Amino acid sequence: MEKIAISCILEVYPNVDALSTWQQQLLQAATKALDSAYAPYSQFRVGAALLMDDDSIVTGSNQENAAYPSGLCAERVAFFTAGSQFPGKIIKAVAITTSYPLEQPIAPCGACRQVMAEYELKQQTPIQLILSSGEGNIYTMANCRDMLPLYFSGEWLKK
Ligand code: THU
Repeated sequence: MEKIAISCILEVYPNVDALSTWQQQLLQAATKALDSAYAPYSQFRVGAALLMDDDSIVTGSNQENAAYPSGLCAERVAFFTAGSQFPGKIIKAVAITTSYPLEQPIAPCGACRQVMAEYELKQQTPIQLILSSGEGNIYTMANCRDMLPLYFSGEWLKK
């Protein structure tokens, strides 16, 4: 029997002021996206902002539905918007935040991690990650795929 340790590296910043200018701007865009969240059932508003390779920003917010599983997370709203509206553009970074009071930065759900990992594979370029919950520490990561080490690969479907 062999044991394998899988690890990832997070950078921890004490507050927004410790981020670079572009990171602060992207996080601001994610925070603004909170205004369009439709979360009447959970009251858990989430905003996501993607920085594209032409420096434009694509945002998304969570959209809930009375038939609960029909709703969608902010991250996937943003990534699918970018994928469908701007299929030729590269996504350079994503910032995610919530207005819900948390003691730590928001952590994307598994389904969103899978989607983000596949967009990285699709564009063959890492997508930097910025996680916040409005207050306190901010986490950054150099790529999204590290958040889901054992992601399901589309390559397996091509065999
Ligand atoms: N949600 C997101 O938008 N992103 C996540 O990464 C986790 C959860 C949303 C889904 C739902 O509208 C609400 O937060 C509570 O689960």
